[in-house]
Amino acid sequence: MTSLVSSADAPFRRNDQGELTCDGVRLADIARDHGTPTYVYSAAAVDVAFDSVDSAYAGAPHLVCFALKACSNLALAARLARRGAGVDIVSGGELFRALKAGFPSERIVFAGVGKTRQEIGEALDANILLFTVESIQEVEAISALARERGKTARVAFRVNPDVDPKTHPYVSTGLKKNKFGIGRETVLDAYRFALSLPNLDPTGIHCHIGSQLVHLDPVRDAVDRIADLVAELKGIGVPIRYIDIGGGIAIRYRDETPDGPTAIASHVIGRAREFGATILMEPGRFLVGNAGILLTEVVYTKENGSKKFVVVDAAMNDLIRPSLYDAYHEIVTVSPPSGEENLVDIVGPVCESGDFLAHDRSFPPVASGDLLAVLSAGAYGFVMSSNYNARPRAAEVVVAGGTARVTRQRESYEDLIRGEVV
Ligand code: LLP
Repeated sequence: MTSLVSSADAPFRRNDQGELTCDGVRLADIARDHGTPTYVYSAAAVDVAFDSVDSAYAGAPHLVCFALKACSNLALAARLARRGAGVDIVSGGELFRALKAGFPSERIVFAGVGKTRQEIGEALDANILLFTVESIQEVEAISALARERGKTARVAFRVNPDVDPKTHPYVSTGLKKNKFGIGRETVLDAYRFALSLPNLDPTGIHCHIGSQLVHLDPVRDAVDRIADLVAELKGIGVPIRYIDIGGGIAIRYRDETPDGPTAIASHVIGRAREFGATILMEPGRFLVGNAGILLTEVVYTKENGSKKFVVVDAAMNDLIRPSLYDAYHEIVTVSPPSGEENLVDIVGPVCESGDFLAHDRSFPPVASGDLLAVLSAGAYGFVMSSNYNARPRAAEVVVAGGTARVTRQRESYEDLIRGEVV
């Protein structure tokens, strides 16, 4: 297995001395200046990832909407907004963040199975581009709230195309048994119903079948099913102007060789062209996943019988993916690795056996004070962190143009009790 840090164009790679850097800035310097645990992101890597998706669809009207849930860091979001990205939000809080980051409202799409009336109202007030709608009750609510405001809401039903995305069950969303979207058999009725409601423009169609899709054929199949629907919708007087193909483009965590953004682009462009529709997409992980790491320091090493443990200062509250999904994240030493490797568990200080970053990992000898980097942590990393065990959340640092800047301060103990009363 080749390490993610060994490729010459990797944002996190070793300098001539073998020390790990982020775009030339030593991670050891970042740890010295800002402490650990700290998320470190490469702005250049985010740019490169965004450009690769954007250029794959350059031949057609399209908008790449960053799925903010993957990483809601304001500095990175603002950077994407300046680069021309749109944004895919799933809550009123994400709407607030998206507007703060500078995304123009006409580049905001709002997904989610349980949008509250308050959240819908906020999005209508902001004049967002499109609501992706997941139920009949929701479309009624949007119509009523739009009417109160004298506005017209653009909506797209999220169709559950019932294709198997072949990914982890927790991040698979396009099957009938999942809570998402509305079934293929009821779609036409749903659009007919939407047409009958006031203050609604049912102008789009949406699907998102899952995340970390190493192969994108299932997305192509889903898009085909949706494109067929678009033809039927035209027949009943619903001209579809937006086809939203969702997110799901995978990254490499270990030894995967994922399909890149170009894999199905020409097919999707061809299908959208049949209807003169604008293509929307919602990549999250692909834009930020390999652009971020979690920098952590070894606190202790210990052995229980034959088992060896490396206890670090980052825990499941900082990065929950290993505990929650048994997800694999490559972990490397920040200093040049040396010495014979042993099998170790890399664990955090939280009082749970499920608090681990790696199990039975072949790892070089490390000692208290050594720094480690948990790779591919830019997506669903910080955003899923918590204060469990009253642990302040980590700092976030963005490296851009050879400079490391704290874009979110480490939380303080005072932050932990903000808003509480005794
Ligand atoms: N659009 C919709 C409607 C979504 O539900 C999602 C992700 C995306 C776009 C972005 O998907 P992406 O391009 O990042 O695959 N916490 C899990 C991932 C949950 C994904 C939820 N929805 C993880 O850590 O793997």
